[in-house]
Amino acid sequence: MAKTKTAFFCQNCGTQYAKWVGQCGACKEWNTIVEEVIQKEKDIPWQNFSDAKTTSSRPVLVGQINASREFRLDIYDKEFNRVLGGGLVPGSLVLLGGEPGIGKSTLLLQIALKLNIRTLYVSGEESLKQIKMRAERIHPNNQTCYILTETKTQNIFKQINDIKPDIVVIDSIQTLHSDYIESSAGSISQVRECTAELIRFAKETNTPVILIGHITKDGNIAGPKILEHMVDTVLQFEGDRNYVYRILRALKNRFGSTAELGIYEMQGDGLREVNNPSEVLLSKSDSGLSGTAIASTIEGMRPLMIEIQALVSTAVYGTPQRSATGYNAKRLNMLLAVLEKRAGFRLGAKDVFLNITGGITVDDPAIDLAVVAAILSSNSDVPIEKNVCFAAEIGLAGEIRPVQRVEQRILEADKLGFSKIFVSKNNKIALKNTKINIELVSKIEDVVNKLFV
Ligand code: TYD
Ligand code: MG
Repeated sequence: MAKTKTAFFCQNCGTQYAKWVGQCGACKEWNTIVEEVIQKEKDIPWQNFSDAKTTSSRPVLVGQINASREFRLDIYDKEFNRVLGGGLVPGSLVLLGGEPGIGKSTLLLQIALKLNIRTLYVSGEESLKQIKMRAERIHPNNQTCYILTETKTQNIFKQINDIKPDIVVIDSIQTLHSDYIESSAGSISQVRECTAELIRFAKETNTPVILIGHITKDGNIAGPKILEHMVDTVLQFEGDRNYVYRILRALKNRFGSTAELGIYEMQGDGLREVNNPSEVLLSKSDSGLSGTAIASTIEGMRPLMIEIQALVSTAVYGTPQRSATGYNAKRLNMLLAVLEKRAGFRLGAKDVFLNITGGITVDDPAIDLAVVAAILSSNSDVPIEKNVCFAAEIGLAGEIRPVQRVEQRILEADKLGFSKIFVSKNNKIALKNTKINIELVSKIEDVVNKLFV
């Protein structure tokens, strides 16, 4: 009988060691090395249970490679298609990560149900009944989606061999285990082995595979970092669980840009694609409230109008409070210092709260001017007209700086019926045929004079 072999792995980066060490030499983390049982050294083909022989690949001249690579599978979900770069590439492995309860299983089950090609949804987390209940809510009459509750990869491949699905979804990679490795499901070597088996299957049969991955407390995908290197595309599903909006973004994409973004709204019957995000992110109230300003921002490649709310009040405690939701708190402090020093507003003894509505987080500096406008509006209790918006960055000297792709931002504001947008004087704008009034400003005072005087 073969002797059981063990090795030591870093839980953080997946580096393998022959003996235990206190600090990982690769990622410099302490106390992350654990012993795991490994039994095999060589890779075993995924069709171990079938008679099919593995085909070995051979070198091909680049000019002779079939150009059918361009083919992409339309998955009938505009947002997901766009984030993937125009559809799912056959034979690719996509990893979808996200916090528990954010809607990963819902999103992929929904996609599997909407397709009218043979899909196999493998769940190691929920029972058939639970999935059925969810499927009933999302898309009740589907004829081509198979559900399998199984966690052993060898059994999954056996079923795949029988059904021959056109697309496979695995929920989740951390629940799978392979017979060839003895450590428990979710451990580094299991995750790595199961992913490697799935990659071999995907590449040899040209079947796309989508994996769901858990994330750790600090937001990284659980398991070795090499998991992210192994797959072709890494997507992240994020959002504030208290709000209905969810954002899908690509962190890595071998077949497209990572700048694209998809927005969904969680409803009672699944996730709805949000094709015009600006409209849903703006509140519909008619009465002008002070402390609200609208910014034209760009998330990924898409322009997006967002609403910023500020509340400025007299500090009741000695130290004024500053807090920001969806916006960088350091940047808020910087803007408050600029307002105090360069524009003469006495905000030093005031509490300032800032919120980006809809539960989204924005780090585009082009929303600076809207943040400042919302703060000044709340401070003076004078509302900003509803049809005014902003797109400019603010520098440390209080100057209003130009932003990237300003024309796209102006066009979005124009499309949504805004009548005035404040941008920097230094932005080069060559737009014709727009109804919107473009206000060019160079200092905060210019904006104050035009808005509040
Ligand atoms: P789920 O897909 O199970 O999350 P994950 O797989 O990322 O852990 O979805 C979790 C939440 O979504 C759950 O708390 C309920 C909500 N939900 C809806 O609001 N509407 C629906 O139609 C479904 C299926 C779920
Ligand atoms: Mg789930």
